[in-house]
Formats: sequence, structure tokens, C-alpha cells
Amino acid sequence: MKISPSVLSADFTRLEKELKDIGDAGADYVHVDVMDGHFVPNISIGPFVVEAIKRATSIPLDVHLMIDAPERFVAEFAKAGSSVITVHAEATRHLHRTVQAIKELGVKAGVSINPATPVSSLEDIIEEVDLVLIMSVNPGFSGQGFIKSSLKKIARARRMIEETGRPIELEVDGGVKVENIRQIALAGADVFVSGSGIFGTKDYGKTISLMREEINAAGVKA
Ligand code: DX5
Ligand code: ZN
Repeated sequence: MKISPSVLSADFTRLEKELKDIGDAGADYVHVDVMDGHFVPNISIGPFVVEAIKRATSIPLDVHLMIDAPERFVAEFAKAGSSVITVHAEATRHLHRTVQAIKELGVKAGVSINPATPVSSLEDIIEEVDLVLIMSVNPGFSGQGFIKSSLKKIARARRMIEETGRPIELEVDGGVKVENIRQIALAGADVFVSGSGIFGTKDYGKTISLMREEINAAGVKA
């Protein structure tokens, strides 16, 4: 069970301090949202800032590419210090080739799907990936509400992962908070991204502990 705070909701004027605080709070990953203004209606950060984040923290970086044709940039994001690079199934024409390219760079490969993309679209790539990311909001912004039908998709993805017998992480991103994390864990997720659900609270350590308590209450280990 991993908690991955999304720095999109952090205060970028104090990024080093924010990273230190989520490290002290027990974050397992730092979730970094990269947006290009094409694949999603927002622009965020590029490899230069990811590299700076890498220098400021020893927590592994979970880099979520919300960009078209991500194969153009995977090498740069690997070089910037990513531990996991996740691309969208909808954003690349040759998903299999892109996943291989990420793995050849020595980085874990993740594949994400948008709320309207069926889990079945992962069937012929799942054996190759290290992580599956189910979007529980339409990507582009933090602070949106969790789309409830994502729970069914998480459960479906969990079954698909079990069938492979491989240790593939199942991550959920969008609208994850202390209040709903138990249900999401019950559905089968094991990596929980949270932006406003953590950075919007006063005491990150307390929030992450509460999240772990909720996950434990779901009967799975945090
Ligand atoms: C949405 C991003 C998310 C976002 C999550 O496009 O991929 O990672 O920052 O923020 P919250 O947890 O506030 O929905
Ligand atoms: Zn994200």
C-alpha cells in the first residue's frame, strides 16, 4: 500500500519545504503530473522541474505523463530521475513500443486509462507493465470530485492483475481523500494518489496516518 501525494496541489513557491514535509509525513511516492495543453486542457511542468524535484527529495518519483505522443519524452523524464513513468493508453499510437522503451531505460512502466476508457483495453498490454493507473477524474486539474463508477473499474483491473500472477501495482488518481480511501482500497487499489486531499490539509502527517488507518480498516495492509 503506497500513498503518493500529487505535487500539483503543493505550494510551488515553497516546493522544497513541501517535499520535505510529505517525506516526514511518510509519503511512499511523489506523484508528478506532467501536462501539455493538448492531451489535457492544462499545462504544468516539464523535465527541468522534475529534475529539480528529484534533487530535493529521496522519495521515488511517480511521474504521470498527460501528454500526447509521450514516446517523444520518456528518455528525458527517465534522465530527470523518474522511478515510474506512466503514459496514457489514449495518448500513444504504439503503446507496446512505448512501454518497452520505458523499461529499456531502467524505469518502471505504468499505463493509465481515462474514465471513459474500458479496463478491457489493457488486456493485451497488462503482462508488460509494472503499474496500472485508473483515473478517477478526467485528467487536467486537481480538486475534482471522485467519479464513483471508477470503483467498478478498479475491481476489474484488480481481477485482471491477479490473473497475470505478477506484482503489478494498481494506482488510483483523482478525488482521493480520507473520506473515500477505504472504499477505494476495498475495490482493490494499492497505490493512492492524493493532491488536494493531502496538500489541502494542515497536517500532512496526520492526514496520511488517517488514510493508512482507513486502508487498514478495509482489511488490507498499509
Ligand atoms: C489530475 C492529476 C491528479 C491530480 C490529483 O489530472 O493527474 O494527479 O493532481 O488531484 P486531486 O487529488 O486533488 O484530485
Ligand atoms: Zn496524476
